[in-house]
Amino acid sequence: MKLLVTGGAGYVGSVTSRLLLDAGHEVVVLDNLSTGVRAAVAPDATFVEKDIRDAAEVLTPGAGFDAVLHFAGLIAAGESMVRPELYWHDNVVKSLALLDAIRAARVPRVIFSSTAAVYGNPVELPITESAAKAPTNTYGATKLTFDHALTSEAHAHKLAAVSLRYFNVAGAYIRDGHEIGERHSPETHLIPIALQVAAGKRDKLQLFGDDYPTDDGTCVRDYIHVEDLARAHLLALGAATPGEHRIYNLGNGHGFSNKQVVEVAREVTGAALPAEIGPRREGDPATLVASSAKARAELGWVPQKPTLQAMIGDAWTFYRAHVA
Ligand SMILES: NC(=O)c1ccc[n+]([C@@H]2O[C@H](COP(=O)([O-])OP(=O)(O)OC[C@H]3O[C@@H](n4cnc5c(N)ncnc54)[C@H](O)[C@@H]3O)[C@@H](O)[C@H]2O)c1
Repeated sequence: MKLLVTGGAGYVGSVTSRLLLDAGHEVVVLDNLSTGVRAAVAPDATFVEKDIRDAAEVLTPGAGFDAVLHFAGLIAAGESMVRPELYWHDNVVKSLALLDAIRAARVPRVIFSSTAAVYGNPVELPITESAAKAPTNTYGATKLTFDHALTSEAHAHKLAAVSLRYFNVAGAYIRDGHEIGERHSPETHLIPIALQVAAGKRDKLQLFGDDYPTDDGTCVRDYIHVEDLARAHLLALGAATPGEHRIYNLGNGHGFSNKQVVEVAREVTGAALPAEIGPRREGDPATLVASSAKARAELGWVPQKPTLQAMIGDAWTFYRAHVA
């Protein structure tokens, strides 16, 4: 297939591009490099430095794209609460312009990076796709809004749309001389922050609260290896069906507490990783664990690297080679 990957200079988009290319697809990466890194773009992909707002310049009716994989967007939940206008603009206004271009060019399929943040505080665990959607931050609200846009687009215009709702993504792609990983700046995710401490770039870690109703009192999150996540996109491309908007949660189905993450990061890196407990962070649910039963049943998706050791081990290999 000929594929347009928006956000292919970012973390998940660059790893997924690698898997798509390895599977024999033709990949064009469209990224404005606002948070992405040019060096992360797969060398055998075509790179277009452009904003998704202007995607119609690439997605012309004659260009022959078979699908768009839409990763581009702003991702920091905390920032979305202090600068919400940025998030509505990038994740909704510009994404709708991309959708207009997709419609005009008659691209038949779209795979969208949605998020667990659309669910907010879960009423029941594990979280299924039919759970109530009640985002507690603007980031989640913007992603849910675009999910709704895809539902109506599929219904009205027979688009084959798939939203993949990622839980916490971790790890790196380490294979055949390719090392592709996470380099967000500023970093807001626990595992890369732990690696920064291990590499001496930060003094200590801060965990937000240890009085949650969990086994050790710290928040529990469902982590998914970025390579497992990327594979789900290839399966979604195969399953996309005209007129349907399919939605799948992607997580391991069991959670790890913040303290467990720090323990495994200590094991993997051999560093002391001093960690202090700070106050709770507003809007943080105690536990977020996905039910990925639907993705397993309908896509045949099975995570190959479900352990924290594999995720943090690969992330550390990437970090030492490319970031430290
Ligand atoms: N990383 C996670 O844990 C996680 C969890 C759930 C969902 N997601 C979703 O997955 C997607 C990818 O996340 P990531 O961690 O790879 O983020 P990232 O910041 O590494 O990548 C996003 C990419 O999009 C590009 N971009 C942003 N706005 C753009 C625009 N208007 N036009 C063109 N390019 C633009 C950036 O330059 C960057 O390369 C996002 O949509 C995010 O909401 C990520």
